[in-house]
Amino acid sequence: MLEIVILAAGKGTRMRSSKPKVMQTIAGKPLLRHVVDTASPLLPAGTKPTVVVGFGKEHVMAGFDTDEIVAVEQTEQLGTGHAVAQALDKLQDDAVALILYGDVPLIRQQTLQALVAKTGANTLAVLTVNLPNPKGYGRMLRNDSGDIIAIVEEKDADEQQRNINEINTGIMAVPVRLLKKWLPELSCDNAQGEYYLTDIIAKASGAGVSINSAQPEFAWEVEGINDRRQQAALERAYQRHQAEQFLADGLMLVDPARFDCRGELSFEQDVEIDINVLIEGQVHLGEGVRIGPNCIIRNSSLAAGTCVEANSIIDGAQVSENCTVGPYARLRPGSVLQKSAKIGNFVEVKKSVIGMGSKVNHLSYIGDCTMGSGVNVGAGTITCNYDGVNKFQTEIGDNSFIGSNSALVAPVTLASGTTVGAGSTITRTTASDDLAIARAKQRNITGWQRPTKK
Ligand code: UD1
Ligand code: CA
Repeated sequence: MLEIVILAAGKGTRMRSSKPKVMQTIAGKPLLRHVVDTASPLLPAGTKPTVVVGFGKEHVMAGFDTDEIVAVEQTEQLGTGHAVAQALDKLQDDAVALILYGDVPLIRQQTLQALVAKTGANTLAVLTVNLPNPKGYGRMLRNDSGDIIAIVEEKDADEQQRNINEINTGIMAVPVRLLKKWLPELSCDNAQGEYYLTDIIAKASGAGVSINSAQPEFAWEVEGINDRRQQAALERAYQRHQAEQFLADGLMLVDPARFDCRGELSFEQDVEIDINVLIEGQVHLGEGVRIGPNCIIRNSSLAAGTCVEANSIIDGAQVSENCTVGPYARLRPGSVLQKSAKIGNFVEVKKSVIGMGSKVNHLSYIGDCTMGSGVNVGAGTITCNYDGVNKFQTEIGDNSFIGSNSALVAPVTLASGTTVGAGSTITRTTASDDLAIARAKQRNITGWQRPTKK
């Protein structure tokens, strides 16, 4: 049986933010959400982690559904031992409690599994690392046989102890029964006047309880965030690691250092992503998709063979096979491109279907529109979908041709094969194969005398 306790009561003064620290983000996701998402799958089905909240607790709790976490409040921050003690009531006696930190977001599941595997009914395990510069951390004290006997905090350590490079990451797994016995016995008679969780290690050693240790594969897994500099550094570590994994899985990132993914990306073979691309939310890229430089792709799916040219933004769109988007295109939520459609430069599409092989190549706004297949929309065409109060639909039938600089005033329906003369303002329904032309007739005044300067 496993229980999880996540400490998240701190304010994070050095972030200089009104938000509680654990709600700051890495890769667009709150720090605490990273920890909950990583750790929760280790729990037996139907159980949830206990989160110790304090500063900004409403803000923290609002970030989670009630079936995701159990929140307990620590009203005063009296130390890590006191924080864990607030959760004890929620924990089953016969379980092992895995203690995590809301501001140590990148811990990996494999590492936690390995740590928990080293515990037993009478055995606890501490996650440690060796740091060339261990300043500020609690040091691991071991006896001559190499057994852990205590953790001493930097502020309480003597000079010899400060030379120890093995530090306490803070993450540990301890039988609940032992926590329930030892936490109420902690004293705050130390340099910081706090109830140290780390003091249970000396108690365990004294009681003949075995103390194991495990190490993470990567140093960034156990790095905490206290200020913006550390937040930015950990963001880079996360992005670098993620990019390396994508490369290993066959995604071609022209420059992995100039690629960011804040969400979940799935992809098929031979996808190529140029520099400075940002992926957000849930994105799927089909076989052979190419993304040009400086694009943002958010919550969208792009099918095989589609090509996105430079400086395009695709948000909430479904793009079918072999489409071309951009350069400088913007697909907004609800955009659906059917096979081989083309959206060109300075074209905005919103909540519209662009039919198979249809083209909107230049400088247009297409909103609330259902467009059939084989349509050609000339440069500067606008669907006037909004009367200032309500939105209306435009329908454009198969194989229609919309002349440049036309305004299609919705609601309006153009039947298949409609031709619209350039510069028309269209307000009335057409029948199949009509030519619709709605513009002032041209007048030519012969021998016109231009004004002269007075
Ligand atoms: C702690 C460890 C230290 C370890 C270091 C790793 C103790 C006594 N020391 O020190 O050995 O090397 O972490 O980073 O455990 N928190 C609460 N309530 C409290 C106190 C803390 O929720 O009353 C939370 C904080 O918000 C923070 C975490 O627990 O997320 C760690 O607390 P912090 O005071 O930063 O511990 P350190 O002094 O860094
Ligand atoms: Ca700390």
